[in-house]
Amino acid sequence: MGANSAVSVRLPARTLKTRDGIFEIDLNLNGAALRWRVRPSETLLDALRRNGWRGAKRGCDTGECGSCTVIIDGRPMLSCLLPAVAAHGRDITTIEGLGGTSNPHPIQQAFAETGAVQCGFCIPGMILSAKSLLDENTDPSPRQIRHALDGNLCRCTGYVKQIEAVSLAAQRIRRGSPAGSRKRRAAASSGRT
Ligand code: FES
Ligand code: FES
Repeated sequence: MGANSAVSVRLPARTLKTRDGIFEIDLNLNGAALRWRVRPSETLLDALRRNGWRGAKRGCDTGECGSCTVIIDGRPMLSCLLPAVAAHGRDITTIEGLGGTSNPHPIQQAFAETGAVQCGFCIPGMILSAKSLLDENTDPSPRQIRHALDGNLCRCTGYVKQIEAVSLAAQRIRRGSPAGSRKRRAAASSGRT
């Protein structure tokens, strides 16, 4: 079971239900405060894609492949298993929130450079699982990387390049990305170097 396989559904404390049975939810998506109308039966994956956020992919739709992974409040979660109403009040990051071709995130850059991307279908979910790991730990062991990615299936590769990519991204983040700087500042303020 992968790190993002343990999906906990915490229903929102407050949702706004309109007269026609549609919920209005407020969410922070990739830094933008949004209000969406969602059906009670709609998954977060359905809602994201219906609203134009297509980075989360629909693979199995049953919680097996990890291609629909998004980050919710810092944790990788399977959006195909989450009711959209569970996104109310949450901070959500999709692959669109990381970077693009002109300003790639270090993880995206490392995936491209190491040849970790073939068809690309699994890659958004895999990169978001990696980001969740590196946000917590910028110096993961190969075993920790494998554990973080083991809920993300890839039909094209043998996973070796992707593990190399996460390791490379971690090195670069430690050397100078904002995440690495934050960790160094925290260590310095606690007296550790
Ligand atoms: S589409 Fe969600 S786990 Fe496969
Ligand atoms: S690169 Fe094709 S499914 Fe992973």
